[in-house]
Formats: sequence, structure tokens, C-alpha cells
Amino acid sequence: MQIVAPLEIEDYVIQTADFMSPPRWHIGHTSWFFETVLQAYKPGYRVYSEDFLFYFNSYYEGFGVRIERPKRGTKSRPTVKETIAYRNHIDEQILSILHSLESVPQAETVLSLVRLGLEHEMQHQELLVYDIKHLLCDQFAVPQTPLPKPAQKVEGMAEIEGGLIWLGYDSAQAPGSRPFAFDNEKPAHQVFIQNFAIDKAPVSNGEFLEFINDGGYQNFRWWFSEGWETVTGEHWRAPLYWEQHDGEWMIRDFSGLHSAASRKDEPVSHVSYFEASAFAKWAGKRLPTEPEWEHAACYDGARKVKQAFPWGDTDPDGRKTNLFENGYWSVSPIGAFPEGANPYGCQQMIGDVWEWTTSDYVPYPGFKSEFDEYNDKWFVNQKVLRGGSFATPQLHIRSTYRNFFHAHERWMVSGFRCAKDS
Ligand SMILES: [Fe+2]
Repeated sequence: MQIVAPLEIEDYVIQTADFMSPPRWHIGHTSWFFETVLQAYKPGYRVYSEDFLFYFNSYYEGFGVRIERPKRGTKSRPTVKETIAYRNHIDEQILSILHSLESVPQAETVLSLVRLGLEHEMQHQELLVYDIKHLLCDQFAVPQTPLPKPAQKVEGMAEIEGGLIWLGYDSAQAPGSRPFAFDNEKPAHQVFIQNFAIDKAPVSNGEFLEFINDGGYQNFRWWFSEGWETVTGEHWRAPLYWEQHDGEWMIRDFSGLHSAASRKDEPVSHVSYFEASAFAKWAGKRLPTEPEWEHAACYDGARKVKQAFPWGDTDPDGRKTNLFENGYWSVSPIGAFPEGANPYGCQQMIGDVWEWTTSDYVPYPGFKSEFDEYNDKWFVNQKVLRGGSFATPQLHIRSTYRNFFHAHERWMVSGFRCAKDS
């Protein structure tokens, strides 16, 4: 509710593209998720409104009929006022079940579903930021904390030794204090990787501008066939939110319109997998695989241990990372978070931009679904992104977190760093 507070009432119901949802929908949908828990586990619970169940269900076949996604912006009802009343009602009901857990037959299950509901809500908090950016961008009057200055220059690649490594979430292996992980991060298992090198910093706007100025978007040789089809079909010439004014590339974000040159030392964002791959090929490199990324983010080669985060086992905070709580509403300059570096000198692996990997989003060996249709039904035709963005809440991110999007999508805060065989 704090995220949407600066919105005017008209802003809540508009859908600016098929892939985004009106803010009012997120506000109601996250409560709808909790209402499914109430329906299943609160004795005598009566559904708030059949109409709301229809409008606020996202994609769950198991929870009945629902409005088609591209039509979420075609309805002015339920109103924003009605949606907030629904939210308050569901919050009260969830609090009341939590306060009387001793009388709930399956208390453990309810608790784990409430945790899932909170993680789901944090995912939608991040989606809200993407969607408000698409809807309003610099017209969104939100207070922003000034960006930090880079503390050092971060250049070159880190050489990392391969071998048999552990991939995935296991709190015993990488302790930290994160008791939750999604089913798609489990079980931890071994995979073999070759020696490799990985960029110490995410690819910057300045580097990406060189690719653009070198005719990168006009040269088929850097692109996958499907990527080239998208570039030509959609007339892409730069990342999303880049605009050309009097021949100069500008980037629009929550704080206004800036020349790309003035933002050259910030990570490039809003690029698709196609664009990230094309850049990597142009640069004579490649994108990392998911095991390479996680190994770089978590492994301390000197101590020979897997740790929870690049910097160790302590939780993320505003000195090590740029996550939502920093309040920047923006990527931050490369080199602004030396305290968040891994033992090899890689910076900003957590926060700033989600980083594309070449890995397909498929279940790990031994995967067991913990909630039907949540993650399990998306295991086809999507790519894994790692690390979280400036819109990700601190409590929500883990080094083992597997985000996933289609190769052409770029309205999320997506960037990348390159890798190389060594
Ligand atoms: Fe959802």
C-alpha cells in the first residue's frame, strides 16, 4: 500500500500492455491468494465475493474461472475503494486465524501457506514497481533517495575454478538466516562445471551504448534467429525506456530523462535475453550458465565453502546491495557497493538488476512441487535470471533464487554480466 500511495485514483485501473497489470489488480490479487488459504483452512469461512474471485485470480486453473490477463484493464469494477475494503477484510481474517492457531487443525500447513502468501506478495510488490514504471515512469511522484557515488572502479573478469559443485538451496550448506526457499530452488544437488571467467560488474549502459553505436541492432550476425525476428518485427533499436532525442540516446526512468552518456557507469537494464545474448556475442563472450552464476555468487574458493551471499552469510542490507529498501527506485553506479563483493571481486551480483543466464527454467533433479501451479507449470520455454533488482525486497532475495522470464521480455529490471570459458 505504501508503493501505490503516490498514485491518483485514475492510475489504478489502466493497463498499458498485455504483460502488465493495473495496480488495483495487484492490490486485490495478493489478498485473493490469502483468501484461497482461508477457504481451505478456516472452518465456516464464507467467500467475500464470487465476482472478486473471478477478477483477482491470476492463472490458477485449480481455483476456477478467471478474467483473461490482457483484459484486467477493461473493467472499472471492483473499484479501488472496494478493493481496499476487500484487502482489509482478508488481512483481518488472516490475522484472526494466526491468533487462534491452536484451534486450527492443520496449523503447520497454514503457517507455511501464509509464508508463501507473504513471499507471493513480495513478488507482486516488485511487479508493481515494473508496472507503475510502464504506466507512469517519471510522472510517478515518489520520493527517491539520492544515488550513491561509486567507491571504486570495477573492471575485468574473475577467473573461477570449476569442478563438481553444489547447486540449489540447502540451509545447512549455506547457513545465512533465510528459512524459506521456493520449491524450484530445491533440492540442492551436484553438477559439474568447467573453469570459467565472469565479469566483475554487470554490463553498463556505456558498454551497451557502444554495441548500439556499432550497429548492433542492425547486424543479424549477433542475434539468434528468434531474436532477430523480434528486433526487426518490433523495430527495436535500444533497450526499453531508451529514447533518441536529436540523435542522442536518452534513458527515461522514475527520476526523469537522462542522456545515456551521463548514466554510462550504471548497469544496463530492461534488456531481453535476446539483447543480452547479442551483446555477449558481439563482445566475444557469452552469458553465464545458472550453475556458474550461483557458484560465483556463493563459493569462497579460499575457505572451500558455499556461503549464503557473495559477501558471506549475513543478510542483505543497504551497504552491500541496492534492493528495494534503499529507496533509489533506480539502478546504482557500478562500484557503489564494494562491501557486497564476492571473494573474487565480483560486485552487485545481488540487487540492481536481475541477471540473465543461458539456463532454461526447468526443474532440478528431485524437484517436488510444494504448491500446485505456483512454479511447476512454468517449466518450459523460459530462461532463468538471478540476483534480484532494485525493486526486490531485502527479505525476499537469496543467491539460489530462480526468477524466470521469456527470452523476449524486458519490462522487468533485467540486465546481465558476461562470462567466458577459461
Ligand atoms: Fe500472483
